[in-house]
Amino acid sequence: MNDERGNLLSIHRLKKSYLIENSRTMKQERVEVIRKLSLDVREKEAVCIMGRSGCGKTTLLKILGGLLAPTEGVIYYRKEALSGYTGKRMEAYRRRQVGFVFQDYKLLDHMSVRDNMILPLLLEHRNVEEALRRVEEMAARLQIGNRLEYYPNELSGGEKQRAAIGRALMNDPELILADEPTGNLDEASGRMVMELLTGLQKELHKTLVLVTHDKEIAGYCDRTVVIRDGRIEKDRLH
Ligand SMILES: Nc1ncnc2c1ncn2[C@@H]1O[C@H](COP(=O)(O)OP(=O)(O)OP(=O)(O)O)[C@@H](O)[C@H]1O
Ligand SMILES: [Mg+2]
Repeated sequence: MNDERGNLLSIHRLKKSYLIENSRTMKQERVEVIRKLSLDVREKEAVCIMGRSGCGKTTLLKILGGLLAPTEGVIYYRKEALSGYTGKRMEAYRRRQVGFVFQDYKLLDHMSVRDNMILPLLLEHRNVEEALRRVEEMAARLQIGNRLEYYPNELSGGEKQRAAIGRALMNDPELILADEPTGNLDEASGRMVMELLTGLQKELHKTLVLVTHDKEIAGYCDRTVVIRDGRIEKDRLH
């Protein structure tokens, strides 16, 4: 089950609970967010995760990206359990294997688009000339080649998100995790972002796990998984 061929990720009986302090009783309470969720994500697949606000979508993406540890269960990445990674290996996983795209872009405001995009490459000690070339190439593909000297506050929402996608792809990760990437965009820019994101994902053979509330956005993916009460309610190929 968890070692089926062609799976990039295999999520096996995942549980996640948070400890919160009840403001009335002042006691610690455990709130279960994900309850025994199992899911395989095939290589090069674009999977959309949907479900009501608070059902655990962001929590799931953070666990897949190694930003948060599960309470129980195992995540296999190419058959290796993430929980078995040492600190250094986990850091490398987050930096090289995974590219994150967020609803609020998370660009660094005091840096130009060029610098935002080149940063992940320089953190990996890549050759500067080559890094600059990569940035130019990626920016052209994302149709922001003429925005490289701009600062994030001089860009439209769609341009910011395209810069953020470029940054996420800079280190050539196998897995793109996108949390409501079109959540702050109007319909037209949302469509453009999805066309570019899924176009690059297919062309560059990436695996995409994307969260959205929007059925039309989900239509850009190959498969939709609906989460309810911390479990999978529906799972269908488009
Ligand atoms: N750090 C935390 N500590 C305590 N509870 C948390 C924490 N993070 C999230 N939660 C709770 O876990 C539940 C799931 O949160 P999560 O952010 O994963 O939901 P979501 O499905 O992404 O929702 P939305 O669609 O609104 O973004 C929520 O009830 C939230 O309050
Ligand atoms: Mg969320």
